[in-house]
Amino acid sequence: MIAAGLSYVKFALPNVGPAPDMQIEGTMAQIERGEYLANNVMVCMECHSQRDWTLFLAPPKPGTKGIGGEVHDQRLGFPGKYVSSNLTPYHLSEWTDGEIFRAITSGVDRDGNALFPIMPHPNFGQLDEEDIKSVIAYIRTLESVEYDTDPSESDFPMNFIINLIPQKAYLKPAPPKSDLVAYGEYLSISAMCATCHTQQDDKGAFIGPEFGGGMSFKLDDGSIVRSANLTPSPTGIGTWTRESFIQRFKEYADSTYVPHVVNEGDFQTTMPWSSYSHMTEDDLAALFEYLQSLTPVDNIVEKFTPSI
Ligand code: HEC
Ligand code: HEC
Repeated sequence: MIAAGLSYVKFALPNVGPAPDMQIEGTMAQIERGEYLANNVMVCMECHSQRDWTLFLAPPKPGTKGIGGEVHDQRLGFPGKYVSSNLTPYHLSEWTDGEIFRAITSGVDRDGNALFPIMPHPNFGQLDEEDIKSVIAYIRTLESVEYDTDPSESDFPMNFIINLIPQKAYLKPAPPKSDLVAYGEYLSISAMCATCHTQQDDKGAFIGPEFGGGMSFKLDDGSIVRSANLTPSPTGIGTWTRESFIQRFKEYADSTYVPHVVNEGDFQTTMPWSSYSHMTEDDLAALFEYLQSLTPVDNIVEKFTPSI
């Protein structure tokens, strides 16, 4: 019974249906929107680049934007080795628009193999179809870079469990921008705020109160950074104003900002400050209003434990 069950999970799943039949026009408006989303909201480029962790906020190493190759493995607490893919035409030009769309929103590659959800397909599958199409239109315009990434591989038992994770997408239209709280929630799903700001078990299920913070991230040198409490409690961001919230992001948008060198044991973070800092003020304001509408959770987070 168990063997039959396991082989079903391994060989018959995931089953998210065929890639949708679509042809994305790639209008200027789509490319512009996609560039904004891929760099500053859905932050594809944050993961699909090779990052320099010796600098604060780990900016992409020159020439690696979009080419993938960043490794998320056991050293950082992952149940396997997951390597971000090359998103430039060198790797994706043979894929149909529908195959890329399905990978982003349902989490399977071209051949139907499951993608580990560090690739945030469970979030992206809840977004507006037009936003996903815009991202694809944009990545089609990236300069092609001949670069082959190592394959990803899950350890046991994740090599079975991973096949249960991909889901059919349930896309829905974005709420109107004038509804700040609803649009802020939409942005929060697009930008994976809850994913990092909620404590999870090792399978990614939420075990702490949503947005309560305290999710820990292991860094290369063994230090641990923990996400902040984003709820409107005094222990979260309850005393922040809309202006101070926007300002906190915009400090990294300044063209004169130069990331400092991070030595072993120094504070480093996984919070994508730099990518998000170029979000529009309207979008940051919507995020703030959404976060302020949440139920306050009292949780004091110790943000950083250095390795030395
Ligand atoms: C938090 C990190 C992260 C973010 C953000 C992210 N990805 Fe990924 N992505 C990955 C990793 C890691 C993989 C490889 C997963 C695996 O092999 O199981 C991947 C896989 C993929 C694949 C499958 C490619 C293949 O060869 O199978 C596509 C397509 C993709 N990502 C596109 C995107 C796009 C477009 C965005 C933004 C809308 C995005 N990703 C955002 C980490 C990320
Ligand atoms: C990849 C994980 C990750 C994602 C995604 C992420 N955060 Fe964070 N965030 C962190 C970590 C870790 C910290 C604590 C360290 C620091 O301050 O940089 C943090 C800190 C913060 C802080 C500082 C709070 C304080 O008390 O100083 C704010 C505000 C914040 N995040 C907002 C957001 C919002 C809004 C989003 C979504 C748009 C988001 N974060 C997405 C990991 C993440």
